[in-house]
Amino acid sequence: RPRALSGIQPTAGSFHLGNYLGAIRQYVALQESHDAFYMVVDLHAITVPQDPATLRENTRVAAAQLLAAGLDPDRCTLFVQSHVPEHAQLGWVMNCLTGFGEASRMTQFKDKSARHGADRTTVGLFTYPVLQVADILLYQANHVPVGEDQRQHVELTRDLAERFNGRFGDTFAIPDAYIVKETGKIYDLQDPTIKMSKSASTPKGIINLLDEPKVSAKKIKSAVTDTGTEIRFDEENKPGVSNLLTIYATLTGTTIAELEAKYQGKGYGALKTDLAEVMAEWVAPFRDRTREYLDDPAMLDKVLAQGAEKARAVAGETLALAYDKIGFLPAK
Ligand code: TYM
Repeated sequence: RPRALSGIQPTAGSFHLGNYLGAIRQYVALQESHDAFYMVVDLHAITVPQDPATLRENTRVAAAQLLAAGLDPDRCTLFVQSHVPEHAQLGWVMNCLTGFGEASRMTQFKDKSARHGADRTTVGLFTYPVLQVADILLYQANHVPVGEDQRQHVELTRDLAERFNGRFGDTFAIPDAYIVKETGKIYDLQDPTIKMSKSASTPKGIINLLDEPKVSAKKIKSAVTDTGTEIRFDEENKPGVSNLLTIYATLTGTTIAELEAKYQGKGYGALKTDLAEVMAEWVAPFRDRTREYLDDPAMLDKVLAQGAEKARAVAGETLALAYDKIGFLPAK
């Protein structure tokens, strides 16, 4: 079986619809075909300031949501990044292979550091993508399910794996990003030209999966649509409607063509009313399942402890191999 690995940040508390459609749905699907590793990336979270109690709570909430979305601890390995010290260890090695200029070119770093300002930008934020490289290479991952915004980080991973292999001999598998074209970028409901993101300009633009179902329904109903009346998938001229059609089709397992046919001659209002209902019906059981997992902390801890043990077995082996190739003296 090929290996899959991905990570998700616990920082916002609730995941949003972009996280789910762009990434988490693929985590669930790849459990069936891959030896799959998924983690809550708390080490990445502290690249920007975090309140300790909130970080701890959000890490649990993140794990509970991943289970609620369909991750099955019998079919995949679910763990918390800081429980596996090899991530920080291989991260250091990768820092020493990364060019300063190369890291400076990461667009997500440029965006985030511009937002935080030079004084509040940490070195951790700068090397964030390099830690992500270590995350992926430790598991010899072949496929990395992510949204479009992570493509550049997977490219960096390929470059560094090739560099290490070239310098020290074959060590790491070269991974491919696994990005679903249709859902790799879900757009903000209030500004369908930018991606849905936790740093959105207005909360109305993002659907938080743990919001009250009626709140989510309302956000869909007040989504910005385009001029004109026709319901047609046309990302260039109708980005708002196209985004809604993508969400609708994915959540219901229908095709865009079927939806276009269904709404022929109907207005945007009809589409939004129906999608609002679909959305509310999807989030209600998701919230309930998340709450059930959170109500059983002993079970959640056990899942994460078993996940960390399975992850460490693989990560430890890869790290030992890398250390040996680099020329570190074995600890006797
Ligand atoms: P994060 O936590 O920001 O996002 C988690 C996943 O959600 C995807 N995503 C989206 N997909 C489609 N449309 C959107 N609007 C949207 N917004 C977010 C992201 O692409 C991501 O897949 N650096 C990563 C976490 C990470 C990681 C890794 C990923 C750490 N180590 C190793 C893969 C492999 C991040 O911050 O994701």
